[in-house]
Amino acid sequence: MTRSLHLLAALTLAVSAAGFAQTPDAKPADAPPAAQQQRPPMPPPSNLQVLPKDMTAEQVIGIMRQWSGDLGVHCSYCHAKDAATGHMNFASDANPMKARARIMAKMTHTINADYLTQLTDPMPEHDVNCGTCHRGMAKPAVFTPPAEEKR
Ligand code: HEC
Ligand code: HEC
Repeated sequence: MTRSLHLLAALTLAVSAAGFAQTPDAKPADAPPAAQQQRPPMPPPSNLQVLPKDMTAEQVIGIMRQWSGDLGVHCSYCHAKDAATGHMNFASDANPMKARARIMAKMTHTINADYLTQLTDPMPEHDVNCGTCHRGMAKPAVFTPPAEEKR
């Protein structure tokens, strides 16, 4: 289980890394981004229950950017702010949407690990990810097939 979750995470990272590579404002590899020069290193994640517990903050945030894009939402859709500081508290579970997202991550993993692997001839071209269903929407729209004569 842990092993295959690592695989899932690695796949997700590969996808998001490919996404980064295409961003037009990508900087040359030898120039550290401005954010890294100014901010202290991010603390390691402390409340991972679905993603591999040994992931670095940078790895988790790569996946988070992917999820946000797949759902067309900002980080605050799933994460809560600390009332005292007014800053995002990513480890907090106060926003109930985070629990929904954890169920979705487990569901997506099960679809890929237990069902998509049963398609062998030919092998699937793509894994299922959040965007397969969500397509940029927090709640996927109900699909209405086109009228029969247009098919
Ligand atoms: C669709 C919901 C969702 C969105 C959107 C989202 N997150 Fe998350 N985030 C989660 C969930 C769920 C976890 C916990 C994962 C786990 O339990 O393994 C998490 C965990 C994290 C963690 C690790 C916290 C810790 O200490 O354990 C960080 C950091 C984080 N998110 C940052 C972000 C950032 C930055 C964004 C926006 C770019 C973002 N998240 C957008 C759902 C989301
Ligand atoms: C197999 C299709 C499918 C996949 C894959 C999928 N979702 Fe969902 N998701 C749904 C459906 C359907 C709903 C319920 C939408 C509704 O309430 O109308 C939903 C609901 C949610 C919600 C609750 C939205 C709300 O406003 O209540 C979150 C958050 C979410 N998904 C996150 C994710 C994340 C993150 C992933 C990937 C790790 C993911 N989903 C993968 C189909 C999917």
